[in-house]
Amino acid sequence: MTHTDYLHTALITQAKKAMKNAYAPYSHFCVGAAILDEHDHIHAGCNVENAAYPLGVCAEGSAISNMVLSGGKTIKKIMLISSGEQLVTPCGGCRQKIKEFSTDETQIIVYHNNKYSHFSMEDLLPQSFSNEFLKK
Ligand code: THU
Repeated sequence: MTHTDYLHTALITQAKKAMKNAYAPYSHFCVGAAILDEHDHIHAGCNVENAAYPLGVCAEGSAISNMVLSGGKTIKKIMLISSGEQLVTPCGGCRQKIKEFSTDETQIIVYHNNKYSHFSMEDLLPQSFSNEFLKK
């Protein structure tokens, strides 16, 4: 196994575990995320819905909160898995949330049908707004 294979296996293991804990009684659509940060630590997250529907949080946002809580600031890789039939990429809001902690090297990886699909931030959110625009 290469180092990359090893990392991807570790990430998908955590993402699957997180997806099992998803709280999705309304959509029944479970999502798990696992981030590899700049310290090579892994932070998982799952979606958490609410009876007041718009208050639900996505798996990616939950994983980002866990990363920040633990001192991580950069997403090297984010692995996603969902319970749907189709390959699912992050929603628009999550793309912007991932952008905040991304670099040009950040990999967004979706695990689907035993395969990994790789995306860059530029693939998912071209021409995007970021903190670069806030610098004076
Ligand atoms: N969801 C995520 O967790 N991440 C996404 O990128 C897409 C959508 C969740 C939100 C909601 O709990 C459920 O999937 C259905 O939209």
